[in-house]
Amino acid sequence: MARRKQELKNEPVWRSDPHTQVKHLVYRHYLQCWMGKILQTFKEATIVDAFAGPGVYKDGPPGSPIVVAKTFLEHSARGRFNRLNLICLEERPDRVEELRRQIDLLPRDPRLRITVAEPGRAVDRQAELSALAHQGDPDRPVLWLLDPFNLKSLPFELVKACTQGRRDEVLVSLFTGELHRFCEQPAFAPVMDAYFGGGAWQSAVGKSGQVARKEAFADAYRAALGEAGLLSGHFGIQVSRDSARYHLVLATHSEAGLACWNPVKWKLDAYTGKGASAHDIAQLGLFGEADVSSLESALRAHSGMEWSWSALTSEALRLGYKEAHLRTALDDLAQEGLAFRVQPVKANTRWPHDSVVRFYNEEDLEEDGFEDIEADSGQGRLV
Ligand SMILES: C[S@@+](CC[C@H](N)C(=O)[O-])C[C@H]1O[C@@H](n2cnc3c(N)ncnc32)[C@H](O)[C@@H]1O
Repeated sequence: MARRKQELKNEPVWRSDPHTQVKHLVYRHYLQCWMGKILQTFKEATIVDAFAGPGVYKDGPPGSPIVVAKTFLEHSARGRFNRLNLICLEERPDRVEELRRQIDLLPRDPRLRITVAEPGRAVDRQAELSALAHQGDPDRPVLWLLDPFNLKSLPFELVKACTQGRRDEVLVSLFTGELHRFCEQPAFAPVMDAYFGGGAWQSAVGKSGQVARKEAFADAYRAALGEAGLLSGHFGIQVSRDSARYHLVLATHSEAGLACWNPVKWKLDAYTGKGASAHDIAQLGLFGEADVSSLESALRAHSGMEWSWSALTSEALRLGYKEAHLRTALDDLAQEGLAFRVQPVKANTRWPHDSVVRFYNEEDLEEDGFEDIEADSGQGRLV
């Protein structure tokens, strides 16, 4: 057995790897925003790390519960924060023991309450964790980190159970690499069905090429989340600059969740917002402007209509973009004459928040329409 596999199987702690660092970077950026908004708005909120691990890697980096705690303790707005409960669950007793040791090393803050549950499996303990997280308040914001080692530990029913509260959100590690490798094996079909809560995954199997197929699995998963009434976004965690090893998927009930998530994607992958490797992270900032072409296509489809700013930002968020991207796309369209701000007439910026935008199509801009009328009418200029 390879040394790494042996560590994972037999030892409480294992060595870190570059993609774990990228995953934690995504966590940190998302948590920065989530904490900044939620902990200054609500009296109390909870993060459940349901596959917590031992809290430390053999070579030193912190595990996810410590990443969460440190993001709280080092947050620039911490002085204004209300209470955060961090609840951790881990299956193996030796990892639970190590996690408790790591938590004991953290500085204390009365507004950060950390609970490490007795060892157990997430599927068996979800109801208990949910009760602990909500404390009788179904509206309390709860962010669930769902980061198992394999597909079998995270059936879709578990994800659904974690999103019952109207402010519940989940950040799922989606095993698109394994899905790509095993999806054609008949024996794997029941596992896939349980993972997607149905047959949505089948639409991805026919895709050729691993990049396209992994993306298609992420899209299929998001479609399943959509069926469950959730908004979502995804980001690829890559090993080198090739296709994703797995994806992180955020599922939320609220556009406010996407407003935190989308900037994380674009920060870590400034050109496509789709995925990053440790190599990319080291090169951050080298990749010029964002590709907003799919947002532009969506806007072009509104020709003949007027859209309010709130409807436009909502559409941009759901397509995975930030408000800044919307402004860029509108600038591009306005330069082509295809978007025109009809309200307000006077403003200090090009796209203020009370903008109403009218969209046109290429035909509306054609100059020869006039000549056609002249020719058709046979009676010279129509004025
Ligand atoms: C990928 S590791 C978690 C790493 C951690 N989230 C981090 O980022 O540092 C998955 C952990 O979940 C534990 N585990 C496996 N199956 C589990 C289950 N069904 N319920 C809870 N924990 C489980 C494993 O022992 C392992 O420590």
